[in-house]
Amino acid sequence: MKVLVVGSGGREHAIIWKLLQNKKIEKIYCAPGNAGIGQLAELVPIGAMEIDKLVDFAKSNSIDLTVIGMDDPLVAGVVDAFEAAGLRVFGPRKNAAIIEGSKAYSKELMKKYNIPTAGYETFDNYDAALEYVKKGDFPVVLKADGLALGKGVLICNDLAEAEAGLKTIMVDKKFGDSGNKVVIEEFLTGPEVSILSFCDGKTVVPMVSAQDHKRAYDNDQGLNTGGMGTFSPSRVYTDEIAKVCMETIFKPTVDGLNKEGRTFKGIIFFGLMLTQKGPKVIEYNARFGDPETQVVLPRLKTDLLDIFEACVDGTLDKLNIEWYDNAAACVILASGGYPESYTKGYEINGLDEAAKAENIYVFHAGTALKDGKFVTNGGRVLGVTGWGDTLDKAIETAYNGVKLVDFKDAHYRKDIGIKKY
Ligand code: AMP
Ligand code: GLY
Repeated sequence: MKVLVVGSGGREHAIIWKLLQNKKIEKIYCAPGNAGIGQLAELVPIGAMEIDKLVDFAKSNSIDLTVIGMDDPLVAGVVDAFEAAGLRVFGPRKNAAIIEGSKAYSKELMKKYNIPTAGYETFDNYDAALEYVKKGDFPVVLKADGLALGKGVLICNDLAEAEAGLKTIMVDKKFGDSGNKVVIEEFLTGPEVSILSFCDGKTVVPMVSAQDHKRAYDNDQGLNTGGMGTFSPSRVYTDEIAKVCMETIFKPTVDGLNKEGRTFKGIIFFGLMLTQKGPKVIEYNARFGDPETQVVLPRLKTDLLDIFEACVDGTLDKLNIEWYDNAAACVILASGGYPESYTKGYEINGLDEAAKAENIYVFHAGTALKDGKFVTNGGRVLGVTGWGDTLDKAIETAYNGVKLVDFKDAHYRKDIGIKKY
């Protein structure tokens, strides 16, 4: 069997690493991938948004299944294009990926089907939005409607900040057309948990819980990033809360999407906040999380290819998905300066050593090969994952892994998994 994975981050590295545990896969390709992925898969020099080229490649190379890792091509309709060409593909169609592509749509869906989320209003006019924040409470949350590389959410503590924020999104168009509309939301508090789930259009199967650390520096200081580290399981996401989420959030989301004619097959990532008034949805993503995937997939016992096939075929209810009773932690090694400007091209040392270490795997996010050596090639460079019987052991193992690898100006958080909640 031949598989193509589309994307280039640590998430896609983890997906490919897990898929290769299936012996039916004789060849795996990744477009465009990164240098670390290149050790496991054949890299295809086609960008994730070059949809026609991806379709042509899948056809001419008789790819049996294509797995889309990234959000942009999903929102742009890559799955529809593959299906139109008669190709098998894992991921939601454009009309379902809209739960990530438009925050205004996702809020409408939640309102219509009584799915708990923060109170909100949507505006496409700057003056009306400004009038609204003038009347409201602070802090207030502003969200650009469309995709914004995880940077389109602004938490504003007073009117001056809110006015500046609305200007940034709607007038200066910092996030381009994503800022044509803005969602203005009530500010919620509580621990945040990431629940990724497999979905075949009818059945939704949540994966083990994870928590992300979004801020750049220790103790949640500094700017928001794509994610500086994760751990699984969450200490606060109890079985009881999981049951509540299934009944009030997961099933109603999948059923609601069906009723809207937007059947969802693929991964729904529920970004949840556990508030005093119960779990609420902060955001939906239509794909695996990054770096959540790097801690969730190492804990998966069931074959990942079998699960993807069941999602495509609509037979998830027939599969018993099992997990190891262990824990995992992932520490991101970022380029100094990330998420703002940083230098690329520094040599990465210690990868061979780390590859020999037990219960550790180094997933590559932004790496390239230069003269046969691995060099930094992005903001997030590596995700060092460790696993063990307990969360404490997993965290210790991940940090032992971090000690093995290095590059100039490498930056990482020292407090991954040490959250009080
Ligand atoms: P998002 O891109 O929607 O995940 O938002 C980025 C981050 O902003 C989230 O991880 C939260 O920490 C924060 N956030 C988003 N919405 C709210 C909200 N309504 N109340 C408080 N914090 C929020
Ligand atoms: N780690 C958060 C995300 O993948 O959106």
